[in-house]
Amino acid sequence: MTTASELPRSVDATLELLTSQGYLAERQLATVTFLALRMGRPLFLEGEAGVGKTEVAKVLAAALGRKLIRLQCYEGLDIASAVYEWNSAAQMIAIRLAEASGDTDREQLSSDIFAERYLIKRPLLQALEPDVAGAPVLLIDELDRADEAFEAYLLEILSDFQVTIPEFGTIQAPQPPIVIVTSNRTREIHDALKRRCLYHWVDYPSADRELA
Ligand SMILES: Nc1ncnc2c1ncn2[C@@H]1O[C@H](COP(=O)(O)OP(=O)(O)O)[C@@H](O)[C@H]1O
Ligand SMILES: [Mg+2]
Repeated sequence: MTTASELPRSVDATLELLTSQGYLAERQLATVTFLALRMGRPLFLEGEAGVGKTEVAKVLAAALGRKLIRLQCYEGLDIASAVYEWNSAAQMIAIRLAEASGDTDREQLSSDIFAERYLIKRPLLQALEPDVAGAPVLLIDELDRADEAFEAYLLEILSDFQVTIPEFGTIQAPQPPIVIVTSNRTREIHDALKRRCLYHWVDYPSADRELA
C-alpha cells in the first residue's frame, strides 16, 4: 500500500509531481493545481474530450498516495446514485424479524433500521469519510452531463463538505477531500459552482510539449 505524501510545496514541485507520473503538464496547470491543493479548493478543469482532464485526478491520487473516488456524471444522476441510499430490502427484513419476535416499540425500531449499517454509501458520501492514507481525491467527472438540479446539490456539498441525511443526521468530512471537477463543456456550468473552484481551461498539448 502506498502511504500519503505531503502536498507539494511549490509550483515547481507540483509540476514535478505531475511529470513524475508521465503526465505532460504545462506550467499554468501546475500553478492552478498547486493553488487548489494549498487552498483546499476544488479544481475545475474544462476542455475538449481527450485533453487529459480525468488523467489529472488519477495522477494526483497516485502521486499523493490517496484513494481515488470517482463519480461519473450522466443525465438523470440523482442523490441515490451519487450520495447515499437506504438498503430498503435489508430494512424490510429487520422490520419483519422485529415483528416476528414481538418487538413493537416503534421508536426503537425506526432508530434501529436507520442505522449506518443500512446505509449504502455512494461516491460523494464515501469521499467524506476519513482514510488512513489521508483525504481521498474525489473526481466528479463530466459534470456537464448531469442535470442542473444535481449541480445545485453539489454546490452545497462542496461548500461545507457535509451531507445531511434526514433520518440519520449530518455527516461531515474530518478532512475535506481533494476535489477535481471536469467538464467537456457540452453545456455551461453555473457560475456559482465555478466560483467555488479554481478554474482552468485544459488545451490540447502544444507540439513542443509533446515532443519534449
Ligand atoms: N497531458 C497528458 N499527459 C499524458 N497523457 C495524457 C495527457 N492528456 C491526455 N493524456 C492521455 O490521453 C487519454 C485521455 O485523457 P483523459 O484524461 O481521459 O481525457 P479527458 O478526461 O480530458 O477526456 C488518457 O489515456 C491519458 O493518459
Ligand atoms: Mg474525462
